Amino acid sequence: MDEVAQSLLEWYDAHRRSLPWRDEVSPYRTWISEVMLQQTRVETVLPYFARFMERFPTVQALAAAPQDDVLSMWSGLGYYSRARNMHSAAQKIVELGAFPKTLEGVRALPGVGEYMAGAIGSIALGLDVAAVDGNLHRVLSRIHADEGDRKVMWTHARAHIPKGRAGDYNQALMDIGSQICKPKNPRCPVCPLKAHCAAFEAGEPTRYPKKAKKKVVPKRQAVCAAMWKDGQLLMVRRPAQGLYGGLYELPGDMLLENEAPAAGLTRALQARLGLSTITIKSMLGDVRHTLTHMKLTLHVLLVEATGEIALSHYTDHRWISPDGLGDEDVGLSTLAVKAVGVAREPPPLQQGLF
Ligand code: ADE
Repeated sequence: MDEVAQSLLEWYDAHRRSLPWRDEVSPYRTWISEVMLQQTRVETVLPYFARFMERFPTVQALAAAPQDDVLSMWSGLGYYSRARNMHSAAQKIVELGAFPKTLEGVRALPGVGEYMAGAIGSIALGLDVAAVDGNLHRVLSRIHADEGDRKVMWTHARAHIPKGRAGDYNQALMDIGSQICKPKNPRCPVCPLKAHCAAFEAGEPTRYPKKAKKKVVPKRQAVCAAMWKDGQLLMVRRPAQGLYGGLYELPGDMLLENEAPAAGLTRALQARLGLSTITIKSMLGDVRHTLTHMKLTLHVLLVEATGEIALSHYTDHRWISPDGLGDEDVGLSTLAVKAVGVAREPPPLQQGLF
């Protein structure tokens, strides 16, 4: 057997992390775990995975659930398009009659890329395929002292695959990447691959992989309204597509360039809720939130308004008690939860007339 694979598997047999999607494997569980683990740490995923499996134990249960239920189980995990894609993939699997058995079949599911197809194929379907994510890219780049691109790392990954144990091989590399071969402080003395690692041999493991140029993330501002009725807050559902698609939030909008928060919020409430008489009472506070493509400051303003709500842009509205937020079957982003936190204390005088 390939020496790298042999050292890896020996180490994995002795040190593999016990994880719920490893201790009981099925294509459904592996798939859900991989969707959650995309961009998200194992420790964060663990409670979400447990709740999700309890609520949707089978792909049929997931496919049959309303989208709001799925998004509510995803609240706070981020990258919500993952949940929407996963939900439509579940419906596709039910239509197919079974989970796909080939790499191409898995790859054709919504939201499944090359890495995820490789992970599911190797871990749950017993296929001898590679799966290179960011962690594996770093480990392979160091073993080979190679600054090559993603395609090159896939070639390296394929070269070491042990026949019949690709799932363990991939997961061993995942564990080494997250626990030993760390980006800044690799723990080379305890690494089972140090005898095969060209970067360690050269005494400069952190030179690899080549550093990506830092992206400049623009700063943007947004506003939202705390509007109260009988101790409940008005929350609105975003359009199905795009950022935070299908999730609930306090109504508002991005600010235009040089637009003041009160003016921007008045504009948004007129356009999106159809309200005409809008009184901005006070600024309640700001929420800061970093997304992949922007650093956002969200101003939360206390608002009173009269008239009937006639939604455009948003697809639904509900009056929600902040205390019972966790019990509602609605999806909420971490940003919306933070904004509700700022809005929380209702004003002593209620004058909204909806
Ligand atoms: N990250 C992505 N997939 C993983 C898995 N199967 N085990 C541990 N970490 C992971």
